[in-house]
Parts: sequence; C-alpha cells; structure tokens
Amino acid sequence: MLAGNWREGSLADGTPYGFTCPSPPRYRHQWYWDSCFHAIVWRHFQPARAREELRTLVRGGRLDGFIPHTIFWSDGAGWRRAPFYATHSLRGDRGTAHIQTPLLALAWELVADQSPDEPGFATEALDGLRLHYDWLGRHRDPDGDGLISIIHPDESGLDDSPKYDAVFGWMSHYLPGYFWLVERSRRLRYDSRAIIARYDEHVEDVMVNVFYALALRALARLTGEVSYRERAMRTEQALVELCWDDERGLFWDLAGSEHTPLRVSTWSSLAPLALPSLPKPIARRLIEEHLLHPRRYRAPYGIPSVSIEERSFQAGWHLFRCWRGPSWINTVWLLVPALRRFGYESDANRIVASCIELVERHGFGEYYNPLNGEGLAARRFGWSTLLIDLVDGADGGAQTPSDGPFVGSLRDELRSMGAEAAGETARRLNRRATAAAAAARRLRSG
Ligand code: GLC
Repeated sequence: MLAGNWREGSLADGTPYGFTCPSPPRYRHQWYWDSCFHAIVWRHFQPARAREELRTLVRGGRLDGFIPHTIFWSDGAGWRRAPFYATHSLRGDRGTAHIQTPLLALAWELVADQSPDEPGFATEALDGLRLHYDWLGRHRDPDGDGLISIIHPDESGLDDSPKYDAVFGWMSHYLPGYFWLVERSRRLRYDSRAIIARYDEHVEDVMVNVFYALALRALARLTGEVSYRERAMRTEQALVELCWDDERGLFWDLAGSEHTPLRVSTWSSLAPLALPSLPKPIARRLIEEHLLHPRRYRAPYGIPSVSIEERSFQAGWHLFRCWRGPSWINTVWLLVPALRRFGYESDANRIVASCIELVERHGFGEYYNPLNGEGLAARRFGWSTLLIDLVDGADGGAQTPSDGPFVGSLRDELRSMGAEAAGETARRLNRRATAAAAAARRLRSG
C-alpha cells in the first residue's frame, strides 16, 4: 500500500523528491508528520525509501531551518483545497508557511538505526536538523518557558480537536473563519513571534511538545550534544509544572499569553505517557483514571481521540471534523508502548488486537469509529500502517513489497466518500425519526 502511494520525480531545476503521499487522491502532497510516520514504517521493509522520504522533507525546508506543514512537489494545491492551505499567497508556493508536529529527528534516528547499509545516514543531515530545532525554539517559544506554541490549530495535525474550540472559535479549522486566520498570518508574513505578540489565539499544545521533547532527545543522541538533551528536559519539566492538573489527573494545553488551560480531555492530555521522564504516579493516574477507564478512553476499537464522556465526543464520520472522537493509529502508536512500559501488557495487546481487526475488516482507513469499528474517511491511508511497528517481530528488513500500480481513482474515492456520507446521513435521519416518533407518542399519551 505504501508503495502504491509512493511519488518520486524531480523539479524543473533538478531537485529530486521521493515521498509517500498520505492517501491519493484526497491527500496527494507531502505532509510533515505523515512523512515521519511513513518513514518509520518503511524502515522495516525498504530503508532506502525511509531515508529518501526524510531527506525529501528536509529538502522541502528553508535555509533558516523552517520546514513546512505541507510541501507541494509533483503538483500544486488543487483549486478545491488551495484555500485551506496556509501558504504565503494563493498561487505558486512550493509549501505552506506553517509547521506541523515536529517529530523529524525522532524519525531520523529510528530510520538511521535500521540503516546498516548506509551508516552515514545518521550524521548526514545534522546541520539541517539542528537548524530546524533551533528555528522552532527561537520562533515558537517567545516566552522562553520551554514549550513551543502553535498559531493555527492544524499545526498540531489535530485540526478540529474540540480542545481548540474555545481558542479559535469562529476561526476554527472546520469553520469559514479559518480563512481569516490564514489571511491575518499572511499579512504578518507568518512571522510567528509577531503573530504571537499581536494576537492571543496561540496554544502551547501538550501533544506537540511531547513529540518536540522526544525529537530533541533523539537529536541529542544523534549529535552527541548535551544542549539538546537539556532542552528536552526543560520541555518535559514545563509540561509537568505548567500543564499537569493534579485534581483532574490530566495534562491541559495552555492558551494565549495568560496560559489559560484548555480543559477538554483529548488523547493529547495522555500524550506525556510517552516521555521517559514522566513520574510514575502521574503515569498510573493517566492510565487507570483515563486511558483504561470504561467511560473515558477504553473503547472496543483503538483509543478514541476524545474522551467518550466529553460533550463534544463524536465517534462517527463528519465531513470537516475528524479529531473529535474517532480512533487513529498514530495515537495507538504513541500510547501503546507506554502502556507496556508501565506494565499494562494485556491492555496493550487488547488495543493492538482491536486495531488489527479494524485493518482486517476495513483496510488501512484514515480513522475508525471507536465504538462500532467502522472504517472512516480516506482509504489506503499511509500512517495507519504504523500498526506494523506495534506487532511483535516487526524487525522487517527482508520483505520487499512489490511496487504495484496505484489502484485509487477519483471515482473510487468519491464513491467511498459517498457511502460514508450516505451512511452517516441515514443514521442521523433515523435518529431524528426515532426522536419524532417518541415525541408524537408522548403527545398522544399526554
Ligand atoms: C488530516 C489530518 C492531519 C494529516 C493530514 C494528511 O488533515 O488531520 O493530521 O497530516 O490529514 O494526512
């Protein structure tokens, strides 16, 4: 499947590229965090592709260390989606001007570890990686507390998560006002320090900072430089000191210059479980009071992206909302190893088994309904293959999947979206009809 989503070629100036697009035709470009996840999977099968995917990502960045959220290599953004991209202008940009959860160094190290055929890979891009993480520290942490900020909700990759509703309001990712958010960043030329100083809609996001810290640790190991480890520790300490809510037993994102906690329980509140430095008592509370709690995150399939008991929880499909309840495989990939580390082996196995069932029933969907296991949204979705990383014996290397032809077509995609949309509409109508019948009965009997 990854081979079917592989895109390679070169630009007019000869710059080569090779990456896995998340899911054609809906997601045809290179996405930052998707590419990191793809490379993590490719390393088990074809490490050369893993390396090329990450090199391509670095190549898509600027000389000052900025790397875009989305890079348009083979073709520009289509007219239908172009307005949704945070580019400098509406036409002609090679990539967006905003970031995505920065786990590049982490992916780089994992791929380097599985590159005995090219030992130089571990060190070949250290300058670029240093520049990237230094850019993030300089531009995204103006208050110097060790936590980096996002200025658009989709910079985390958790676009429409309900945790952002209170901050971005009418400018949320799924509302028309998002265009204004993009436009006002354009007017300040995406100068993040200026944007953060001028507007209060910015978030120190827990999940983003967990990946940032893990990446800084990886960079410290790759470079042998202790300063990156110190930065990682500072971020990890800030997460515990500033974001941990001892009463609720969860981590909250902090909004704006006042650091207002965003008290909506989403999987991001559990993400610090992945940090090696997390104090055990905190980990136990996250796991026992939330992750394994039947009314919160314990679901028949995967790990819901929002706690089931939140009012905003929505298990099923919605055209513009995907992080309000559905289970995603990257979530499982981050949290399951932590469950194992803290001794919850059978729960970890149960969650992985439920995901295997999902993939067997519905293929590598973009996400799944955590309650009934329905496969939702895009098909042949790249990072869902991360499941392979959680299955015993995934030390790969030997297998080489055949480079079959790309099997998707716009018609297939529309047909699948049509079925999802039709299914969801029928369910809603059904619910309304049931409610109307109940109301009629009440009227008659009253
Ligand atoms: C959706 C996801 C985002 C991902 C992108 C490409 O927008 O919310 O996290 O990077 O698709 O797959």
